[in-house]
Amino acid sequence: MMIADLIRATRTVRRYREDLAIGDAVLRGLVDLARLGGSAGNRQPLRYTIVTDQRLREQVFPCLGWAGYLRDWPGPAEGERPAAYIVCLLDRDRSGAAEKHAHIDLGIATQNLLLGAAEQGIYGCRIASVAPAIKRVLGVDERYGFLLVVALGYPAEQVVLEEGGGDDPVRYWRDKNGVHHVPKRRLDDVLLLPGKTAGE
Ligand SMILES: Cc1cc2nc3c(=O)[nH]c(=O)nc-3n(C[C@H](O)[C@H](O)[C@H](O)COP(=O)(O)O)c2cc1C
Repeated sequence: MMIADLIRATRTVRRYREDLAIGDAVLRGLVDLARLGGSAGNRQPLRYTIVTDQRLREQVFPCLGWAGYLRDWPGPAEGERPAAYIVCLLDRDRSGAAEKHAHIDLGIATQNLLLGAAEQGIYGCRIASVAPAIKRVLGVDERYGFLLVVALGYPAEQVVLEEGGGDDPVRYWRDKNGVHHVPKRRLDDVLLLPGKTAGE
């Protein structure tokens, strides 16, 4: 796939084929892509924990907040839950002054990961809405700050991009056929002319 097509295809997916496991080598390969991303000061403070064990997945799942705009949907039902998680942590002993840029590193790293996954037909969801209990569930040492969970699996839902015009180009929605629609602001709405940045 050309990079532009891959970027368009790399959408957030929240319902998965839970019966289809993702192999350890594939998951390690995704972390390998994540670790190659740019890093402030090249400090590379991000660490990753791969979770595939079913009992641990069952403990991670209740910590996660899904799709805030889909008010009537509590998250994926049994059978549609993630087949794996990659939990992103910050090694405070390795971040130094670059700690303030850790979230930029995180965006780059997780986009690498999700692009590499999509290329293999695996999709995911970054989840920042996570209960603090996740650190206890995973036995995370004080040295590590929790950053993000990336849920992963083979997709069990269709997602389509929309050109988001109007007043609310933000809210994603699900239609009566269960297709997830995700609006994006139009190109001309995100391009600001130099000297014209004071208002819209
Ligand atoms: C930093 C970040 C945090 C996110 N946290 C959550 C979350 O807690 N729960 C969730 O269901 N989706 C979460 N998402 C997914 C966004 O809702 C999703 O990216 C957005 O709807 C746009 O869809 P797209 O990724 O297909 O472009 C998060 C995305 C990002 C980038």
